[in-house]
Amino acid sequence: MATVTMPFSRRTLIAESFRRVRAASVDMCAPLTPEEYRLQPVEEVSPPWWNLGHTSWFFARNVLAPLGGRRTAEDDAYDYLLNSYYASLGARLPRGKRGSVSRPTTNEILRYRQSVDARVEELLESIDGQHSSELERLLAIGIQHEQQHQELFYTEIKYILAQNPRPLRRAYANLPPEQQVAPPGPAAWIFSDGGLLEFGHRGSGWCWDNELPLHPYYLPPFEIAERLVTCREFLAFVREGGYANPLLWLDNGWREVEAQRLAAPLYWENVDGTRWIWTLSGMKPLALEEPACHVSFYEADAFARWKSATFDEYRGARLPSEREWEHAAQALASEPLASEAFLDSQRLHPAIARATPGLVSQMNGALWQWTSSYYEPYPGYRPFPGALAEYNGKFMDNQRVLRGGSCVTPRDHYRHTYRNFWPAPTRFQFTGIRLARSLED
Ligand SMILES: [Fe+2]
Repeated sequence: MATVTMPFSRRTLIAESFRRVRAASVDMCAPLTPEEYRLQPVEEVSPPWWNLGHTSWFFARNVLAPLGGRRTAEDDAYDYLLNSYYASLGARLPRGKRGSVSRPTTNEILRYRQSVDARVEELLESIDGQHSSELERLLAIGIQHEQQHQELFYTEIKYILAQNPRPLRRAYANLPPEQQVAPPGPAAWIFSDGGLLEFGHRGSGWCWDNELPLHPYYLPPFEIAERLVTCREFLAFVREGGYANPLLWLDNGWREVEAQRLAAPLYWENVDGTRWIWTLSGMKPLALEEPACHVSFYEADAFARWKSATFDEYRGARLPSEREWEHAAQALASEPLASEAFLDSQRLHPAIARATPGLVSQMNGALWQWTSSYYEPYPGYRPFPGALAEYNGKFMDNQRVLRGGSCVTPRDHYRHTYRNFWPAPTRFQFTGIRLARSLED
């Protein structure tokens, strides 16, 4: 009896997407030295070798294994090292030890990638009609997972390269500086009358389980700032004692300020009285009109409180809720979703706002924007089945939601309904600040 296989055109499309995303992960590591592949300066910053290995392990464990794909000895040998947080899939190397091991070598990991790639292609060729939709579903998750790790790679290598003494530091890329612009006036407030609206992903396109289900929610009227907070505005907070005033901070945030001796965003450096920042294209003078980047939720929240208390035109300023943010992105954004700001532009740094009167800018691919919302399930949330239930659902505990994508997010990885999440103290991601406020009675 003839075997029914996946239609040729469908298979070609999936294979092309798989190859393109897999190749991009290797290509982005090309500028690295052998040492840079191995370093893990802090627990949350994984070394690039691990990123390359873990994303391959993900396909081996979550796509090949459940569908009877070919196994190799490396699948077993590397399982302990490359499992990130899937407790249901077995024992794991502690997260903070990824920079402590010398085996597998980086070349062994690159060979493992090729082996996994070849076996995924074999499975795509041979899968029968009964299992082809499951293969398609799991491959889509593997591809999206790999794109998440591509964004992580840029944030991690930025942190790794920043550890070197200043005279020895080497940039990841050589990018031209952006043209500076005249300082804008205060950010205008853009009004939304809210209402009973629907939130979450709609339609047949792909999304994570945490973007579902589409659900109604009543949003009171609100205002949202037309652009992100700039370095100039954040510098005023620094200079006027923002980091020295406990009244501006949540208790956990103030503990971070004291314990880490925080006095400015991550990567801001004072060199002989001049402020510089570390970027993926090296050290550069702080450009005051660029959006302030690499701030924690606590810094964003304290800044909003300071802004509200200090300036009449910002009275009531706070961070937006994730649903306020989502509605503004759908209804009020000035730039199309296919904006040049994402990783595809290869700027690797957030761009200056280009204001359009009456609309909201920098909603797509500038910086991830902290929201006031805790990361919680939408009503009726159902996690992915099996081990992949661990992907998103178990982190819905004491983290905050970020929206917007960033300059290191692959464009085709992002949607307005995308829910990123990090613990509140996180600073090494490309995170920025958008203000909102409720309407006064
Ligand atoms: Fe992962």
